Amino acid sequence: MTTRVEITNDFLAINVKPGKTIQDIVEASGSALPFGCRDGECGTCIVMVESGMEFVSEKNAKEDTVCKTVGETSPKARLACQMKIVEPNGLVRLKY
Ligand code: FES
Repeated sequence: MTTRVEITNDFLAINVKPGKTIQDIVEASGSALPFGCRDGECGTCIVMVESGMEFVSEKNAKEDTVCKTVGETSPKARLACQMKIVEPNGLVRLKY
């Protein structure tokens, strides 16, 4: 029971089990998506969830704070170091 995560910039796709963070997936896949603090503080890892928001965790308080701080108002904007896959049998498409 996995969900397929596609990172469109890198033409990568990986099937993952719920519970994995996008950071785990990026590091396992060889994506060039950059990270800084890895703790929801800096905003380096902002990604756009182009589709599949229903398969990822709810936006947390750190994500809200960082997005406001950097002026990112899109409802698709998330932090790859905070967001997790929470549902199987889905497709999540990310762009950074
Ligand atoms: S790496 Fe700093 S917020 Fe994700």
